[in-house]
Amino acid sequence: MAAKKKGAERWDVGASGELPEGGRLVVDVAAITVGVFRIDGGLYAWESICPHVEGPVCQGLMVPAVREVLDEKRAVKGSVFDESDMRITCPWHGMEFSIKTGKHPANPKLALRKIAVAEGDGRIWVEV
Ligand code: FES
Repeated sequence: MAAKKKGAERWDVGASGELPEGGRLVVDVAAITVGVFRIDGGLYAWESICPHVEGPVCQGLMVPAVREVLDEKRAVKGSVFDESDMRITCPWHGMEFSIKTGKHPANPKLALRKIAVAEGDGRIWVEV
């Protein structure tokens, strides 16, 4: 989808209806690519450059975090998905980042660059 520039640095990236709950838009604005996500009713936007070696992270799979289920002796009984912690998985080498915080779950120093995002008048806007 082509983005249209509105004002100095505010970009219209699509109609609100184009981004349902659990959905994603990946758009080119200015000279960068941005991923916009709607998770648990909130909007989150990140520059689509992976901090590992600059893969197109926002185009990766959106998956829930995997949690290990332990017994009383701390032995693994199995795994479950945690839908309250959605991740984006970089398609190049599989690094995961929280869609809500942009951080890698094991190393918070590895993080995506946050992009300001807002919604109004039936449109979604990012500031770049
Ligand atoms: S570039 Fe994203 S995991 Fe390697």
